[in-house]
Amino acid sequence: MSDRVLMQSVSKIYQTNSHQQLGIQDISLTVYPGEMVLLLGPSGSGKTTMLLLMAGLIQPTTGEIVLFDKKISAYSAKQLQMIRANRIGFIFQNFLLLDSLNVKENIELVTFFSGISRRQRKARLDSIMHMLSIYHLRETISKTLSQGEKQRVAIARAIINNADLIIADEPTASLDVNQGKDIINLLHILARSKNRSVVVASHDMRWVDVADRVLFLQDGRLNGIEGIQAQRHTGSKDSGSKDQSLILRDVRDETGNIIPEKRCGTS
Ligand SMILES: Nc1ncnc2c1ncn2[C@@H]1O[C@H](COP(=O)(O)OP(=O)(O)OP(=O)(O)O)[C@@H](O)[C@H]1O
Ligand SMILES: [Mg+2]
Repeated sequence: MSDRVLMQSVSKIYQTNSHQQLGIQDISLTVYPGEMVLLLGPSGSGKTTMLLLMAGLIQPTTGEIVLFDKKISAYSAKQLQMIRANRIGFIFQNFLLLDSLNVKENIELVTFFSGISRRQRKARLDSIMHMLSIYHLRETISKTLSQGEKQRVAIARAIINNADLIIADEPTASLDVNQGKDIINLLHILARSKNRSVVVASHDMRWVDVADRVLFLQDGRLNGIEGIQAQRHTGSKDSGSKDQSLILRDVRDETGNIIPEKRCGTS
């Protein structure tokens, strides 16, 4: 089955000048296309570490990560760069916008490696800026934007290339209630209707309503289900790896295909 993302017994230990710091320890997970996986956990529990590992932005200390059915360690640096540019949309916790560029340029930047025509690019750019209510800010230098505006630009940048894997680190943290709801709906639709894999780290419990599976992290390790009625995932869909996430709603059959009636209605 193609396009899965797997973490197999992955640990990350950061080496600082003075000590070793645990990022995450022995975590296994499979993310299928069409699924939304939620990472919950207190500050410092390892959520960002997991997301960076999944995108190949940092290397695991032990364990293996499989990205689109090929081990990350087997990709060349150039291949990984192309995958990040074209197949992964990463919404960073601190946005990582280029301060001196305007909104339009910050979003457009990632499309230059995507091979789409200039005309298509412009159409997509305009439509996404309208969708995220930042069209009126398109000429504004990013440095001057509010946190919520920056967050929406970062989201636009992550989705404009129609990435297969969308990784979102606290994507609603700076948004007001209604904007937050819109983003939750948007990423839910991208997962369910466009068959993207969406992995979200958040403290915002509204994601639980739409997530298919959830991981609770505590001190880099998996913790219990903490009050949410969820069923332990046995990893039966993928006998080759244990998967420690918890199913909230199972949208896939035994072969990993989406069950049609569980799709959400929007096209
Ligand atoms: N580059 C780094 N060097 C050393 N330690 C790091 C580094 N990045 C993260 N850590 C440590 O790894 C642990 C997990 O950090 P991580 O950023 O993954 O947590 P988090 O769950 O995303 O937290 P938050 O909710 O505050 O964003 C923390 O103890 C953190 O201090
Ligand atoms: Mg974080």
